[in-house]
Amino acid sequence: MSDRQRPLRSAQWFGTADKNGFMYRSWMKNQGIPDHEFQGKPIIGICNTWSELTPCNAHFRKLAEHVKQGVLEAGGYPVEFPVFSNGESNLRPTAMFTRNLASMDVEEAIRGNPIDAVVLLVGCDKTTPALLMGAASCDIPTIVVTGGPMLNGKHKGKDIGSGTVVWKLSEQVKAGEISLHDFMAAEAGMSRSAGTCNTMGTASTMACMAESLGTSLPHNAAIPAVDSRRYVLAHLSGNRIVEMVNEDLRLSKILTKEAFDNAIRTNAAIGGSTNAVIHLKAIAGRIGVDLTLDDWSRVGRGTPTVVDLQPSGRFLMEEFYYAGGLPAVLRRLGEADRLPFKDALTVNGKTLWENVKDAPLYNDEVIRPLDNPLTADGGICVVRGNLAPNGAVLKPSAATAELMQHRGRAVVFEDFDDYKARINDPDLDVEANDILVMKHCGPRGYHGMAEVGNMGLPPKILAQGITDMVRISDARMSGTAYGTVVLHVAPEAAAGGPLAAVRNGDWIELDCDSGRLHLEISDEELAARLAENDPTAASTLIASQGGYRQLYIERVLQADEGCDFDFLVGCRGSDVPRHSH
Ligand code: FES
Repeated sequence: MSDRQRPLRSAQWFGTADKNGFMYRSWMKNQGIPDHEFQGKPIIGICNTWSELTPCNAHFRKLAEHVKQGVLEAGGYPVEFPVFSNGESNLRPTAMFTRNLASMDVEEAIRGNPIDAVVLLVGCDKTTPALLMGAASCDIPTIVVTGGPMLNGKHKGKDIGSGTVVWKLSEQVKAGEISLHDFMAAEAGMSRSAGTCNTMGTASTMACMAESLGTSLPHNAAIPAVDSRRYVLAHLSGNRIVEMVNEDLRLSKILTKEAFDNAIRTNAAIGGSTNAVIHLKAIAGRIGVDLTLDDWSRVGRGTPTVVDLQPSGRFLMEEFYYAGGLPAVLRRLGEADRLPFKDALTVNGKTLWENVKDAPLYNDEVIRPLDNPLTADGGICVVRGNLAPNGAVLKPSAATAELMQHRGRAVVFEDFDDYKARINDPDLDVEANDILVMKHCGPRGYHGMAEVGNMGLPPKILAQGITDMVRISDARMSGTAYGTVVLHVAPEAAAGGPLAAVRNGDWIELDCDSGRLHLEISDEELAARLAENDPTAASTLIASQGGYRQLYIERVLQADEGCDFDFLVGCRGSDVPRHSH
């Protein structure tokens, strides 16, 4: 251990031959830990989001065992601890509502305990940002191990993708093209192995973000959950985290502004989820990196989407891994001089480029050449205007190109309940060229900004064979969804944003080329309408219920600021006041 760059943090607990050291060690010894494990070995925390209520992370106990083997082999001592597990599929009102709660749990668990480094076991959408946010606020050596995607879904002899097939088939039911029985038959086939959603949804996107940020070993994003190589990667991550302690390779050395630029470019190349915009901002805020929506335009725009995965394209994560995975994409970007910072450091001590420059690429259909992309300009499109002064986003690779410049009449839903109540009404006054607008689904308006921005189309429109319309809201959208959908309008309606002022029949202009989202009414009219609006009414009602909801509504930041709590932004380090028994 002579090459260790600074004393072990855990020595503050276990390193003294006195009353305190006695007590810290003695209680740990009730687990059968021999004394020599406390004599200068790095103590490695394994932060586990295992839960049977988070089905995507339900295999994590086995994953943790492989990390432990790697830690022990490298001379460390592993200690596994649970944190709040926010699973996307079950948790109400949204898993996003508890992302910040989980991050607080992670931060305090890391800082308060005798660990020198941490392995983050993440998978389902919000678990990845939550754990990275919490760890970033502590800044100790950290490595991400993702649970991996599910195997391809299967239905009627064809591959089907998590989430995406639900949106597609449910629209077909509404259009009268398939029966409800056919729809329900796809249910078991969609999720047939352990793992996360197998599309390029938010889970896969965030796994790619973690890898492109340099916080995981190469290939972490795409190895299927049930592939034995996933467990090898967990083992190797256990090896590596021990070395990271000795090298004092903390998260702040990895999560630099340059690393975020690499991640934004990667998001465009993979056709990643719009949720990454919010999560990367929140992670950056925790480590002290100033990231803005303008960075998404500056770095992402003009980047072709080359990964042909659902929901934008055809394939699923299994094919992505077999085609070469994220290293192959990064190599392709780098060889075309499109990887912004090749020298960004990663957790294995090498630069991002060193990790990927020789990465094999096996399938040009799944990972397409840059000059034959899925979408020529796949970078997240940021739009602003009098309807979204602080910005809104749209995912070009999931949109209809012709609708990205569009002027239409607003068909307004005051909130998601209003939308559900009226969207199937045959008398709804709506035409194919109209723009569907939904309010009060932002961070405050709908407890964590529900993924309802991809409003299903009215049946009368679907029956015309129309499959896409422009939709605008302050909501989020599942990474598995698609459409010409303007999301994250900031400020949200429930925070007094101009979205609250839109009325049926108003005209709206969307121009993704110039980044403009404009409500065609005068400034005076807009101000007068907003003066009539009481944005706090709904929020006050919810806040009066107390508890975490109250904290959330009172302290959550807007979408362009990452939806973190205002008091959580920043890196607070790992120092903790000594406790004397
Ligand atoms: Fe967990 Fe999609 S619901 S990854």
